[in-house]
Amino acid sequence: MPTGKLVRLRPMEPSDAEALWRWNSDPDVMRWMDEGYPSSLAQTVERVENRGRNSYDDVLLGIETLDGGRLIGLVRLRDAEPEIGNAELDIYIGEKDCWGKGYGTDATREICRYGFDKMRLHSIALWVVAENTAAIRVYEKVGFTQDGRQRDAFRRDGKWHDMVLMTMLEGELAG
Ligand SMILES: CC(C)(COP(=O)(O)OP(=O)(O)OC[C@H]1O[C@@H](n2cnc3c(N)ncnc32)[C@H](O)[C@@H]1OP(=O)(O)O)[C@@H](O)C(=O)NCCC(=O)NCCS
Repeated sequence: MPTGKLVRLRPMEPSDAEALWRWNSDPDVMRWMDEGYPSSLAQTVERVENRGRNSYDDVLLGIETLDGGRLIGLVRLRDAEPEIGNAELDIYIGEKDCWGKGYGTDATREICRYGFDKMRLHSIALWVVAENTAAIRVYEKVGFTQDGRQRDAFRRDGKWHDMVLMTMLEGELAG
């Protein structure tokens, strides 16, 4: 299991569904993320139970604290393309009392290390809402660079927001 200084990344279990549903229903957690259409707890349980194995084009891992073994969020590397060695990254820490303690940075670093070392990726990309300053700070600490901006790409509370494209190439991982 990929393990950093503060967290361990591990596969999802059916018993994680309740936490996932709670996080996805929390407007603070989902503020700068696309929450999709509302799902019931039963639908979330079904989705977690029916999820296939992790594979090259979709690696979804729970973020567990090393201190206490508490599940606090998720990371995902998805849509990897072997021809160009690129994948997209998603992360969120669903337990709000764990924000600002370094967990997001540690988890991002470890999933990227996994992508470069184990999956032999050449680059990792992500899109983030321009106002999501905490997330952008995390990505820059780990080694991502801002590559571009798409105007009015995200809508929240009746307003449009720009999204920033960030990428990191193999060899650029910091720490
Ligand atoms: C974004 C997120 C993953 C960060 O995780 P975290 O565990 O809180 O991050 P860390 O504690 O490792 O680091 C946060 C950094 O952002 C900084 N930060 C926090 N809030 C900030 C703000 N409002 N403005 C600027 N910087 C901020 C912190 O100071 C810290 O930087 P530092 O180490 O230089 O002091 C987490 O807040 C989260 O999951 N948010 C909701 C979901 C989300 O937005 N996901 C990203 C979608 S692209």
